[in-house]
Parts: sequence; C-alpha cells; structure tokens
Amino acid sequence: MCGIIGYIGKNNAAPILIEGLKRLEYRGYDSAGISVIDKNGNVKTIKKIGKIENLEKSINGQMVIGGLCGIAHTRWATHGIVNELNAHPHFDCQKNIFLVHNGIIENYSDLKEKLIKEGHKFISQTDTEVVAHLIEKFFEGNLENAVAKALKNIKGAYGLAVISKKDPNKIVIAKKSSPLLVGLGENEFIIASDASAILAYTKQIIHLNDGEIAVIGNDKINFTNLDQEIISKKSEIFNEDFNNADKGKYQHFMLKEIFEQPKTLRNSVIGRLIKKEGWAKLGGLEIIENKLREIDRLIIVGCGSAYLAGLVGEYMLEEYVGLPTEVEFASEFRYRKPIFGENTALLCISQSGETADTLAAVEEAKRKGILTLGIVNSVGSSIARKTDAGVYNHVGPEIGVASTKAFTSQLEILVLLTLFLGRQRQMSLVMGQRIIKELERLPIWVEKILRQAPKIKKLAKKYYKSKDFFFLGRKYNYPIAMEGALKLKEISYIHAEGYGAGEMKHGPIAMIDKNFITFGIAPIDSVYEKMLSNLEEIKARNGKILVIATEGDKKIQKITKDVISIPKTLEMLTPILSVVPLQLFAYYCAVFNKHDVDKPRNLAKSVTVE
Ligand code: F6R
Repeated sequence: MCGIIGYIGKNNAAPILIEGLKRLEYRGYDSAGISVIDKNGNVKTIKKIGKIENLEKSINGQMVIGGLCGIAHTRWATHGIVNELNAHPHFDCQKNIFLVHNGIIENYSDLKEKLIKEGHKFISQTDTEVVAHLIEKFFEGNLENAVAKALKNIKGAYGLAVISKKDPNKIVIAKKSSPLLVGLGENEFIIASDASAILAYTKQIIHLNDGEIAVIGNDKINFTNLDQEIISKKSEIFNEDFNNADKGKYQHFMLKEIFEQPKTLRNSVIGRLIKKEGWAKLGGLEIIENKLREIDRLIIVGCGSAYLAGLVGEYMLEEYVGLPTEVEFASEFRYRKPIFGENTALLCISQSGETADTLAAVEEAKRKGILTLGIVNSVGSSIARKTDAGVYNHVGPEIGVASTKAFTSQLEILVLLTLFLGRQRQMSLVMGQRIIKELERLPIWVEKILRQAPKIKKLAKKYYKSKDFFFLGRKYNYPIAMEGALKLKEISYIHAEGYGAGEMKHGPIAMIDKNFITFGIAPIDSVYEKMLSNLEEIKARNGKILVIATEGDKKIQKITKDVISIPKTLEMLTPILSVVPLQLFAYYCAVFNKHDVDKPRNLAKSVTVE
C-alpha cells in the first residue's frame, strides 16, 4: 500500500524515481508525487492525481534542475481524499523539509492539535503531514537528529524518506512496521519500499529493521537506532528475477498471470517431489523437521485470498495428516486472546509477505513463543524474514491486484505441506505417491482448462450485466466459492457472495429469483450428489445457474447448459483446477464492464496498513 522510492547519486534523480514509481504503481495508484533537490538546496515538487503517467507527463520539461537527489511516492489514500494537497511528498511550514511516508501515524490528531497550537500551519488532511511539522519543530541544522527526535513522538507504522533544503545532499530514512530497503549501486543509493522497484539498478540491498534510521549521503550510508547509536548492517544479494514484470502479449497482468499458471504450478513443486518416498522435500522446513513432528495443532492465518487458501489447507491437513487445524483472518487473530498449547504452530500465508495484519499475527505468535511458519511468495519480505521457517512459492512477482497464480501456488504448497507432515505421521507411501502423481498432472490440466477461455468469455458476455451472484461449493470447493465471489467483486464490482451450498436453505435461498445468478462448483467428488440437490433447489426457484463440473459429467447437463468442465483429479486437488475458470470469468466480466483490471478501484496490491 503506497510505494516509496528515493535516489541519491551521480545521475539525474527524476527519471530514476519515475521508473521506480512505475514499478511500484501496483501498490497504490490514486495519486503520485516527487521532490528533487539540487546541490544548493533548491527543491522542486510536483504532485498529480491519478496514474504515474500523469506525473510523468507534467514532469517532462519541468524537472530539469539537475537534482541528483530526490524522493517520490505513489499513494493509496488512508487519511484524506484523493487530491494534490493530500498526495506526497508533504512538507513543513517553511517548505524546508520534504518527506514521503507509508503506514499510518496513529496519534496524528493529538500531534496535529498540539502543533497547530504551537503555530504550525497544515494544508492537507493526511496523517503524514504531522511528521514534516514535527521534524521542523526539532530541526536545528541536522536532519537525522530532527528525524530521530520526531519519531520518538510518533505512534504507528512508518516507512519514511526525508530530505531538507537546510541539510541537503542526504536522504534520511526510517522504518517501523512498513517495509523499506536501500539498494547499493556504484556511488549511488536507491531507496524503496519494495525490491522490485530497484533491481534494474542493483541487486545488492540492505533491509531496514524496525526502529532503524539510515542517513544516506552521496557516497556513504550510516545506520543508527532511534537513540542514534551506530549499528552495523550487512548487505545481501537479491537473486529474484523480476524480468517477467511486463505484460508481454497480454492485455493485462491479470490475464498474463492466469495463463502463466501451468508454468508457476510447475515452478512451485520443482525439485520438491520425492516420488520414491511419496514425500515432499521442503528445504525451508528440514531444519525444524523434528519440531514439526511434535505439532498437535496448527493455526493458519492470512487475509483475503491467502486466508481462503488456508481454508482449503484445513481440509487437506485434517483429512490426510490428522492434524487439528483452524484458519483465521490475520486481522482477527491479532486482537484475540488465542489459547496456545506447547505444540501449537502458526502458519501464515502471504503473497507479498508484507500484509500488515499477517505480519502482526506473526509478531503476536512469536511474542507468545510459538513456532511460526510461512508460505510466502516475495523473497526477503518482512514475513519471510520474521517467521521461524517456511516455504517460498517461487511464482515470480504477481502484479495484477487480484491474486491468481499466487493463490493456486499457495494451494499447491499446502498440498506439499500435507505430504511433508502426512508422511511423518499417518499417510501411507501409496497415498503419498498417488498425490504426487496427480500433482504432476495439474499443469497439463490447467492448460486444458485455459483452452476453454473463449467459452468462458462468452459466458461472461452473457452474464456481465447481472447485479448479483452466488458462488456455491462444498467441502474443498467451499473456500473456492468464496474465492470466486471475491475475484468477481474486486475487479468487476458486481455483488457476489460465496457460500457453502448446504447453507442456502438456512436463509440465502430467499434471494433467488430469475435475476440472481448462481455459479456452482460441482466436480464429481464425495459431496457431488449433495451439490446437485442444492443446485436443483435453485433451479426450482427459477435461479439461473452456471456450473464447473468434471469432464464428461452428463447429469449436470440436466441442470444447466452453461457448464465449464475441469479434468478429473483427486478431490483434494480440485480447488487448484476449479478456481481457474472463476478467475477467467471475473476477468472477462471486468473487461466487458470496462474496468481497469490490474488496478481496480479502491484497492492496492500490498496492504501494509491495518
Ligand atoms: C485478492 C487479493 C487479496 C490478497 C490479500 C492478502 O485477489 O489479492 O485478497 O490475497 O490482500 O495479500 P497477501 O497474500 O500479499 O498477504
């Protein structure tokens, strides 16, 4: 949520900052701004509403001030409407201090009131502006001293980058609960909230930890804590490949990422399937193999799609491992008083590895001393670094705001975890080998489903004007019903609800009439007959029905002609197949409704605020 970029070095800062912003745009895109400072302390600031290209257009020709140092920001509004005044960089009364901020200043209204009484003039509705005025208050000629003093007064989360006219040739950055890192180039430094923004310049990076400040000059960098005691930090080489962060031949990242799934499903299991032993090799878990044997209860946390992947995992882990598992929204978990046993473990699932609520759940679990595990896509992200052990997805950056390839990979990793833990416990060799055999077929089955894209597009054309949808499934496909509804809501803005089909009679069926569309997920599995009855009940009330069914299923044809087929596989693996047509359906509905699929309204890719 929001993206920060900063540059100091030997090159013109503005073009580098704009490039970085473009790579960060998926994190927030309601407005963007840039401040560039030259050697003599002249600062030029430009802010624009809307996409980065608006900012880029207005910068062309205006930013020729030869500034070798600057900061920039792409915003996802928290406090204050979307307008230029609320866009970052923010500044103080004298326009000496300029800063960009990710996160939320929780005590901003108290601070603002106090600062106003002291004579400070505020021009925006944001929480961030108080930080600029606080720094102004403490400024006595040295920027880092003022930043350190200001931060001691702040409650909340921040990733911060600050420059000052009165102390030029440096950027001061600080972090608490919001990601921030520095890339080390040759006589240049580049700062970002996300490694993907800087890897074109350098792969050598240093992550800031909470409570750390860095002072970055033209040719040196110093780290301190909030008490300004020097700390030493080591850089690391970031080896992830972000080259696939362009759309290629596809109209949108989301479509590209949907079509990438045969490849990403292969990548997530590559080198991890030990057929002979019917087992999964998960390097990240091997070091705690014995501890995992002892676990008697697992709590899975995540948000949005990651949470729904966890729900599918619950079915797998209970059925095949016999491990009592519960799944919870990370945002609820962090504020409950969960009861942990000695052998409870927490598993968090997160594509970005930066989701604030999920990160807070890890911190809470660590505080209580329980083992923390992660399924994370983004290498080196905060959650990946905080958890005791974990498994990476290896699906490359997911740029489309709606999760697709990361979601199917999360499901696949949960299957690997089921194999890993299952074979430690009750799962037979034969069962392990059977799961592996079916897992290996999934990419081919997904390719087959993707070949039905034109048919799914036609169905979307038929239904995209509908106002209301139910997505219904049972057992393993109950969470997928919720995922289908979530996908449709977030990019098509169509009202959709995901339900366990068995719940319909307990209230929701009252909604059914000829205008209410039901999307059933009814593969031939252990709950197939029940699912058919539930769909019949909807048909009897004139509800329109679309169905995802197993190839060759004749019975389903009697309920509806709008059928999308998926190949037959193990029941536990059906979610990885059934979700793909739902992704495509939501995508085409959004396209027909003329929405910006990759940047849906009000959303951002990485939710780094609560
Ligand atoms: C939905 C979607 C979100 C994310 C959620 C968690 O398509 O993308 O619901 O799944 O915000 O994000 P991560 O996985 O980054 O923690």
